[in-house]
Amino acid sequence: MCGIVGYAGKGEAALKVFSGLEQLEYRGYDSAGIAVSDGHKINIVKKCGRVRLLKARLNQLTGGVGIGHTRWATHGKPSDVNAHPHASGAVVVVHNGILENYSELKNSLSAAGARFVSETDSEVIAASINAAYSRGNCNFCAEPNLCDPSAPHALLRALHTSAQTFKGSYALMVMCEGFEGFAVARFKSPVIVGAGDDGFYCASDEPALAGSCSSVYALQDGEYALITPSGIRLYDCDLSPVERKFSPNRARSAAFDLCGNDRYMIKEICESPAAVKNTVSAFASAEGDIDGIRRADRFIFLGCGTAYHAALMGKIYLERFARATTEAEYAGEFRYKDPVLTPRSAVIAVTQSGETADTVEAAKLAKTLGARVIAVTNSPRSEITRVADAVVPVEAGTEICVAATKSYSGQLVALYMLAKRLAGESFSEICALPDALGKVIKSADICALADMCARASGVYFLGRNADYALALEGSLKMREVTYIAGGGYPAGELKHGTLALIDENTVSVFIITDGELASKSATAAEQVLSRGGKVAIVTCCKGIAAAFAGRAETVEIPDLGKYLTPVLAATVLQKLAYRTAVILGRDPDKPRHLAKSVTVE
Ligand code: F6R
Repeated sequence: MCGIVGYAGKGEAALKVFSGLEQLEYRGYDSAGIAVSDGHKINIVKKCGRVRLLKARLNQLTGGVGIGHTRWATHGKPSDVNAHPHASGAVVVVHNGILENYSELKNSLSAAGARFVSETDSEVIAASINAAYSRGNCNFCAEPNLCDPSAPHALLRALHTSAQTFKGSYALMVMCEGFEGFAVARFKSPVIVGAGDDGFYCASDEPALAGSCSSVYALQDGEYALITPSGIRLYDCDLSPVERKFSPNRARSAAFDLCGNDRYMIKEICESPAAVKNTVSAFASAEGDIDGIRRADRFIFLGCGTAYHAALMGKIYLERFARATTEAEYAGEFRYKDPVLTPRSAVIAVTQSGETADTVEAAKLAKTLGARVIAVTNSPRSEITRVADAVVPVEAGTEICVAATKSYSGQLVALYMLAKRLAGESFSEICALPDALGKVIKSADICALADMCARASGVYFLGRNADYALALEGSLKMREVTYIAGGGYPAGELKHGTLALIDENTVSVFIITDGELASKSATAAEQVLSRGGKVAIVTCCKGIAAAFAGRAETVEIPDLGKYLTPVLAATVLQKLAYRTAVILGRDPDKPRHLAKSVTVE
């Protein structure tokens, strides 16, 4: 969350940074800003709202070195003044992360004469670096003459000096007047650097550099970079120069092409069959010792949001196929509960971005407690892959829409194959899934149901076992893109309290993909109908569809067995959420208050 981009080269920095920010906007869209050096002075344009609002002012920025930011507000409401870049004296900063000790630093900088105009923690970073820069303060350099602030490296040294006082997370790009370049630091927030044909780039993640850099390097925690029109120099945590291997940029600019679709959300739902197919093909190339966790006596699946819902399904798969002791937990809960883990525990961390702070920190904690960690991720060079002992790839491709869709389908099949492998079973049946998924996406008619949901005061999703995990995901998708209140519940729990929510303005969507439990969920649906609530049923069970004909909206899907049919049902729920959002005039790609890649707590 929050996206940062920097450029130094022969081109117009404003245009390069602007286009990078547009490609990073899914990381936050509360405000945007760009700073460009004209060789003497750094000019800044920034504005509350979307990146596109900067376009009309790009002509105010000329020069070949610039940095930019698209914000997901943490400290201080979205506003022009809280927008990045933040300037203090000669120094200009963009920041992704949270400075936890900002209040303490702000007090001491204020006492030393610094003045602040915004409510942000990031402005404190600018003031701190400016103070170190103005002092020529340099812990690193033993030679006083090199501490001259006008020497190119003085900015980097000031950044390094200040960073020693920062607590929290940061990916930082810092410019200062009089220096044609910018310095970069990283701690717990992602940042990559790359060389293009026309200059040198830096960004929060690979998609921002799709089309401009074919190879990239992801900075590690504590590493620094100095980027100028003549190149990228990398430094370790003591500012000793280091050489690093660059790898191909996997992001493709095609991911940003809507290909005739109105929104990324529907485009990406339609890409689910390819995501599944590619994930199946990639399973053989999983890295690390997956089979090593067969010896584990306990498996804990972790994730946040949609990835947690996939983790719940992973738990169901492994429990059923391997009869193993399994749990699934929210990563953010797990990391703060003083978990009991042993070297015989295995943690399976599910994360699309591989950068979600809670999931990464939970995985690190598990490792320090001796557990083995497997990452299931769509981002092969992300932080989670550095923590994990083994990586099971999800090959969904770049996902632009904030709401996860194709990556969830990919996660489900990756977890299915992992569970089968740990159980020593084959999974050739999965080959039928991509085609079936393609057909369901084309044919599932959810229009009448979406109309019903768009008029509802609440939409509830219910199911049992795997269908309950799906209910949670269906509900999250509906809530996040439509803002309609609701929830996901086990169908059997309805009568224990939730039934009190039901009235004629509510819709209850029952997911019934498990024939053995169908009659149980059907009973709960009858209880809703008899209390005047509207009911919809997504099912592969013909008898159920017939029993509710004329009394409930039914969406029928093919039966691929009780473990793969949920993948089909998931796309129906995604389409339903999408269509309802469109009816209500919401932007499903960028729901209010949200952002992709939650790199802060
Ligand atoms: C919901 C959604 C989020 C993410 C969650 C975890 O549609 O996208 O709930 O699933 O923030 O993100 P990752 O998978 O990147 O760890």
